[in-house]
Amino acid sequence: MDTRITLVLGDITRQHADALVNAANSSLLGGGGVDGAIHRRGGPEILAACRALRASHYGKGLPAGRAVATTAGRLDARWVIHTVGPVHSAEEDRSALLASCYRTSLAVAAELEARTVAFPAISTGIFRWPLDDAARLAVRTVREQATPPVEEVRFVLFDEDAYGAFTRALAAG
Ligand code: APR
Repeated sequence: MDTRITLVLGDITRQHADALVNAANSSLLGGGGVDGAIHRRGGPEILAACRALRASHYGKGLPAGRAVATTAGRLDARWVIHTVGPVHSAEEDRSALLASCYRTSLAVAAELEARTVAFPAISTGIFRWPLDDAARLAVRTVREQATPPVEEVRFVLFDEDAYGAFTRALAAG
């Protein structure tokens, strides 16, 4: 059974899903954009869990391309999967790192036996990755990597530009 890929225009912190993916930074201690919204609406439990991860497995922070799960606190989900996107660079091709965010987040979701996973458009905000390229890479990686028990991958896009980019990426087949 193929994993369904769906698109939603909206705020990821208002989604109901087993796992919500956070576009975190390597400190795991919060930030702006998705990160800020998830901690704001999710509450202090999430930050406490992130701090515990820093104190145990991730003393130097979470490297770009990796993913780790915590409680979802007050969000309508069971877990938040924090992943750190690469900052876009015109000089260096970091596509493999961005693909790794989707791949490792899906692997964590499968381990948790999450059936529905909601992603934001990782790295396309503060990290300045061009939307069309990020959308193509995200859709391709999810098509290649998503496996049961993940049944639905939902891209939650915050504005029309992002929604259009993901619509084009899905249609490109
Ligand atoms: N729901 C869904 N998408 C959102 C939301 C939201 N509530 N808020 C922002 N976005 C969109 C942005 O419009 C962008 O398309 O998510 C995408 C990713 O943007 P950022 O959140 O800025 O994430 P990113 O570009 O990966 O940069 C990560 O920003 O917030 C800090 O701590 C974070 O240092 C890290 C960096």
